[in-house]
Amino acid sequence: MDRGLSSASPPDAVILLVGPSGAGKSTWAAPRFGPHEVLESDAFRAMVADDPDDQSATADAFKLLYAIVRARTRRGLRCVVDATNLTVAARRSLTRLAARAGRPTIAVVFDVSLQRCLRQNSARLDRQVSEAVIRRHHEQLQVAKAALAGEGYLRIVTLTDQDIDAL
Ligand code: CTP
Ligand code: MG
Repeated sequence: MDRGLSSASPPDAVILLVGPSGAGKSTWAAPRFGPHEVLESDAFRAMVADDPDDQSATADAFKLLYAIVRARTRRGLRCVVDATNLTVAARRSLTRLAARAGRPTIAVVFDVSLQRCLRQNSARLDRQVSEAVIRRHHEQLQVAKAALAGEGYLRIVTLTDQDIDAL
């Protein structure tokens, strides 16, 4: 379902990855997009706090992430925002920046099972989040799926467990 998304999506698009922690967003994005196209929220937390898990760095990290989205969209360069993007507010911040620069938005939804998220999280070598956080994310995902259609994306790409297994 995602085949060729990087080449098929407009080169100036803002692509929002939407999915729980552990769903496989970063793993999916890494081979598909250039290193400067992918803006990973954890990397920004690490830049400002030396720790990708430091949630107290979230506000500073996103200020920087948004600044880069602003700069890249002005230049017509693609942005792949690798964050959970599970809340309306998080997505709206990005869709507004894209709209201000006249750029299209695409949502890539990791509609994966809770079991997969939990399994992949517990097998992680880099960092793990608590089961409670993943359960909450998975609930937020169900709300997000219903809301996305009204948020103005040029395309909504949905990846299920089966799609991810087939990659
Ligand atoms: N993984 C996997 N098979 C996939 C996708 C991911 O085994 N098809 C594994 C990865 O190797 C990683 C874990 O699952 O160890 C979580 O994947 P990741 O891409 O890091 O998940 P994210 O959605 O990016 O999680 P986060 O929001 O916490 O960054
Ligand atoms: Mg990630």
